[in-house]
Amino acid sequence: MSTFTEPAPTSTALLLLGRGSDAASEKGVDCPGELPAASDPDLIERARAAKEALGDRLFILGHHYQRDEVIQFADVTGDSFKLAQQAAARPDAEFIVFCGVHFMAESADILTGDQQTVILPDLAAGCSMADMATRQQVDECWDTLTDLGLTEDVVPVTYMNSSAAIKAFVGEHGGLVCTSSNAQRALEWAYEQGRKVLFLPDQHLGRNTAVRELGFELSDCVTYNPHKPGGGLTDEELRDARMILWRGHCSVHGRFTLDSVNEVRDRVPGVNVLVHPECKHEVVSAADLVGSTEYIIKALEAAPAGSAWAIGTELNLVRRLAHQHPDKQVMFLDKTICYCSTMNRIDLPHLVWSLEELVAGRVPNPITVDADTARHSKVALDRMLALP
Ligand code: 13P
Ligand code: SF4
Repeated sequence: MSTFTEPAPTSTALLLLGRGSDAASEKGVDCPGELPAASDPDLIERARAAKEALGDRLFILGHHYQRDEVIQFADVTGDSFKLAQQAAARPDAEFIVFCGVHFMAESADILTGDQQTVILPDLAAGCSMADMATRQQVDECWDTLTDLGLTEDVVPVTYMNSSAAIKAFVGEHGGLVCTSSNAQRALEWAYEQGRKVLFLPDQHLGRNTAVRELGFELSDCVTYNPHKPGGGLTDEELRDARMILWRGHCSVHGRFTLDSVNEVRDRVPGVNVLVHPECKHEVVSAADLVGSTEYIIKALEAAPAGSAWAIGTELNLVRRLAHQHPDKQVMFLDKTICYCSTMNRIDLPHLVWSLEELVAGRVPNPITVDADTARHSKVALDRMLALP
């Protein structure tokens, strides 16, 4: 079968993402210590030795978008849902090193015990989508809905890709967290509690799930723009909508287009187009299969030899799938490189640095959610974990 074709580089290959609106955060944060050089030939050996020295005190979680050089050291790999479950299921590990992004490490901190510490090897590993909804903006939106007398009827649901402050808001207002692997069940639960949903912060996951899984019309959904008064919507639009979508998106998955789907179908007859639900609605509607990163991996495992797959999700994962399935034709759906730059911030030097700091008795980059926020967020996370 043909080998993986690397997409072409572009000037925006590493999308500029970061936490907060501070562009300087993209430059990364200083490690309060010596970061090993990426060229150090002993990095793999050093990571191995530090991991061995820490033994059962350490548990390393790795999201599927992590680099190969990092994922090889993960005790468990998974999508956001599986990693949250795994974090909650390791009460004996003193240190959870989270190779993923900030909101995942926050969720792990909320779900783990006080005696455990969650560590993010590079604090600049944020998520631009999570940054698109701040607590103040969401409070203002809720005030608008309250003034219209709607909040009795609205259940807030937030995608896992949001800050702990947003999860706390949702927990305080009777809602729950969802991930891309349980959004349908989460929304079904929400519509049992109320007539409307405020879906934060990914408009695409919200719209795709409402229309594809729940049978809503596109016209049942409105998009709330937090940068406009009243979300840029009329009172009537807010009153009539069943689904109020926050105007947030993933810049990585936003790169995939309907043109890429049409182009690959023309070029590779019989190709299966498999995309993540963070892609735009027109892309998801044109795809054959849609699902979380874990779903994408399982779909490839179940696929027959000789089948062809064009996959619309982050490049580290798609390249790894291509190498793991040499008997299948695995293609990247976009023509140009598309990494999640913040996921990529966790590289081997940062992992080695974190592990060696732990061995030396220092705790690098602990992620701690304050007690009040953690308590309310946990309500929303527990509701998700309890979904049937
Ligand atoms: P999943 O791994 O849950 O599918 O999420 C993808 C993602 O964007 C993580 O940030
Ligand atoms: Fe955030 Fe998108 Fe990166 Fe996921 S892939 S961490 S949603 S920017």
